[in-house]
Amino acid sequence: MSASPTVRPQELVRSDRVHRRVYLDPEIFAREMEEIFGHAWVFVGHDSQIPNAGDFITTSIGAQPVVMAQHGDGKVHVLFNRCGHRGALVVAEASGRVKQFRCGYHGWSFHTDGSLAGIPLADGYGSAIDLDDPSFGMIEVPRTATYHGFVFASLAADGPSLREYLGEATIGIDDLIDRAPDGEIELVGGVHKYYYRGNWKLQTENVCDQYHPPFGHASSLASDGRQFNRRAGDDHGRPVFFGDAGMIDVYVAGVWSYPSGHSSVGSMRFAAEPDGPVFRKYRAKLVARHGEMRTREILAPKHHNMFLYPNLVVQQVSQHLRVIRPVAVDLTEVSVYAVKLKGAPDEMHTEVIRYLNITHAAASLIQTDDLETFERCQRGLATQGTDWVLFARGAEEDRVARSGTITGPVASEAPMRGQFKTWLSYMTDLA
Ligand code: FES
Ligand SMILES: [Fe+2]
Repeated sequence: MSASPTVRPQELVRSDRVHRRVYLDPEIFAREMEEIFGHAWVFVGHDSQIPNAGDFITTSIGAQPVVMAQHGDGKVHVLFNRCGHRGALVVAEASGRVKQFRCGYHGWSFHTDGSLAGIPLADGYGSAIDLDDPSFGMIEVPRTATYHGFVFASLAADGPSLREYLGEATIGIDDLIDRAPDGEIELVGGVHKYYYRGNWKLQTENVCDQYHPPFGHASSLASDGRQFNRRAGDDHGRPVFFGDAGMIDVYVAGVWSYPSGHSSVGSMRFAAEPDGPVFRKYRAKLVARHGEMRTREILAPKHHNMFLYPNLVVQQVSQHLRVIRPVAVDLTEVSVYAVKLKGAPDEMHTEVIRYLNITHAAASLIQTDDLETFERCQRGLATQGTDWVLFARGAEEDRVARSGTITGPVASEAPMRGQFKTWLSYMTDLA
């Protein structure tokens, strides 16, 4: 679909449906990067990814490449990845450790807080140029804030604080932190990174979509468990879930749609406490810290996926983070990080990594179903037969709390309706 200078976002979103143009139009995409990723609190990384002075990772906030660095002053710095000289990207690596950043073009160097450190042949600039001017450094993004080590940045100088923005949805992070015997998590298990040829919102909608698993993941989750039957040495496969009420029966509760576009879905029945010597060792550490009652509360499955708008998925029970990075209107990058619960036995972290290899790697059993689906959506949406995409499921059963949080039954499309309500607020400057 070609770009239209006349696009009016308010004409593209209704309470229970959206126009297909929101997935296809490059102009809409450019505006999303400016209005949504240019204002919201966007997840950048976790401070455990940069534990030492000089450690850094690179990513982007919308269309803006950034570097998140540990300067050694106790602060995490999120810098625009742009040289103060002639604008080249300074840091090309995904991660690493440096004394200083050095631009590959003419060798200008920068401290890890972004300030200019040195210029080759500096005397050639003459007295009219003040090289102490901070604009010749790597500029820090307007706002950075951290919640339990989760680093978020906002490209808007003004707006709600991170805590206000996350609101009740902090429980997605809190629940994960509570599960760590030392009260902290780390991202130290590497990353699965892949792209799909589809719009970024196809992934954000899918995260809290309980309608699709019986169909989109039938080959893994149907009672004959065909995918899991392939496990070496296992004749009967791994029963993922069964139930007279059908596969939807697997969920303990429904969906939540929070203000600011966040959402979550209830946990799955098979997420109940496991057993075994490693788990018992882990459990004992939690009991030592919190007591039996609180430990039981902590380990009770609460949510399967928590989505923090616009780009972070926290999966509590299987312990991973998924970061969604829009690249183009029809290209999206997904990065999956195993979460290590500090203080838990190392075997548990190994198990999480093993599990993610099966479920969320580029060649895994579950996530590949979704990636194929996203690409089919992108192709199907390009057809001209009809313009509207329906999210009406469960709308009559929405229950709205005073906080603005909406709860709905299993397989309600309330999370998507909430996302597009937020989308419209940003796109029309109301957020
Ligand atoms: S562009 Fe970076 S040193 Fe010239
Ligand atoms: Fe899925």
